Amino acid sequence: MMCRGRWHKVADASRFINIADLRRAAERRLPRSVFDYIDGGADGEVTLRENTRAFDDVTFRPRCAVEVPACDLRTTVLGTPLAVPFIFAPVGSSRMFWPRGEEVAARVAGRIGTIYSLSTLSGCRLEDVKKSTPGPAWYQLYLCGGRDVAAATVQRARETGYSALILTIDTAVSGLRERDFRNGAKAILSRKLVPLLPHAWQFVSRPRWLADFYRDGGLMKFPNVMLPDGPMPYADVAAALEQSTVTWSDLKWIREIWKGPIVIKGVHIGDDARRAVDEGAAAIVVSNHGGRQLDGVPATIRSLPEIVQAVDGRVEVLLDGGIRRGGHVVKALCLGARAVLIGRAYAYGLAAAGDAGVQRAVDILRADITRTMKLLGVGSIEGLDRSYVDVPSHWE
Ligand SMILES: Cc1cc2nc3c(=O)[nH]c(=O)nc-3n(C[C@H](O)[C@H](O)[C@H](O)COP(=O)(O)O)c2cc1C
Repeated sequence: MMCRGRWHKVADASRFINIADLRRAAERRLPRSVFDYIDGGADGEVTLRENTRAFDDVTFRPRCAVEVPACDLRTTVLGTPLAVPFIFAPVGSSRMFWPRGEEVAARVAGRIGTIYSLSTLSGCRLEDVKKSTPGPAWYQLYLCGGRDVAAATVQRARETGYSALILTIDTAVSGLRERDFRNGAKAILSRKLVPLLPHAWQFVSRPRWLADFYRDGGLMKFPNVMLPDGPMPYADVAAALEQSTVTWSDLKWIREIWKGPIVIKGVHIGDDARRAVDEGAAAIVVSNHGGRQLDGVPATIRSLPEIVQAVDGRVEVLLDGGIRRGGHVVKALCLGARAVLIGRAYAYGLAAAGDAGVQRAVDILRADITRTMKLLGVGSIEGLDRSYVDVPSHWE
């Protein structure tokens, strides 16, 4: 309540016109290391930038003088009805952005009628997150801690009512996020006073975030990675990821303990898409982890046509990466995505203003999508198709 009251004093949410405004508000509230953890990408951040920029290469072909009195944004993904054609992507450590961040974001997702995806690397218990949303939720699996630890979590997710399991396959090792090094992430996580001192100003200069952080229990652990001696500590994440690479052979035992649909996330090329389908994936996500893993891979919107063609309608194809405007969502749907996942777009909102900020992010995207569709002359999601966009000839 305190947070919401303070938010209303600071600003009226409608003042934020686009996602870039929420990004700036997040930057003002967060210490540099936390903001850059959300905002940054791997290596030279080429893929990070390209994800958003490449949407500009796709241009619209509107049908004008068409009356579109109402716009129906409803669709389904894996048979689940959605009120909007976007899902919340798994975003680890959201609890660092706002107190009980995963629960706050999940609540908004459910309220607006979409799916919340919970990362293995979350600060809130998967049971508490599921309880906080009136809508459906997916669980994103990393094999941190090894197979037995992951199997126990999958079991919990199944019993709690998560309706699909996302298996992220692009994280053999953690990408090199150069900003984390410059901001002293290692020294900060060591929790030793002397190495921490040169980096202390970024926290001292953000007293509102600092107060929220301590009120929420300080540095979070990972309660969904239950090791024999308790939840995995924050500092251990990079090593844990490196020791727990997912391979295609893992799908067999995962399918034995998880009877529901499996969504393979992190597909870049047609061959992997076909492989995922052959291995029994119910859906795939064309994703480069928001430019946080292998730098130099193409923007996801650029990879989408190849993958849609390879999959040939056998499973639903989703896409994430770089979505900052409703027009981006519409372009992805025209090129064959069933729906998209949004990552930073809602994470900036969460970091800027909690519930009100996430709500503002989805309000912006929803209004953008509606306006774009009306200007295109299309009244429903299923009406969007390839004929409404042009792509550069070398994409074909
Ligand atoms: C701060 C942050 C943390 C993330 N953590 C995870 C994660 O734990 N698991 C995962 O599969 N993807 C993770 N991702 C990737 C997102 O699920 C998604 O692929 C990406 O954010 C999409 O790009 P966008 O942020 O440009 O929308 C993370 C992304 C961000 C920005």
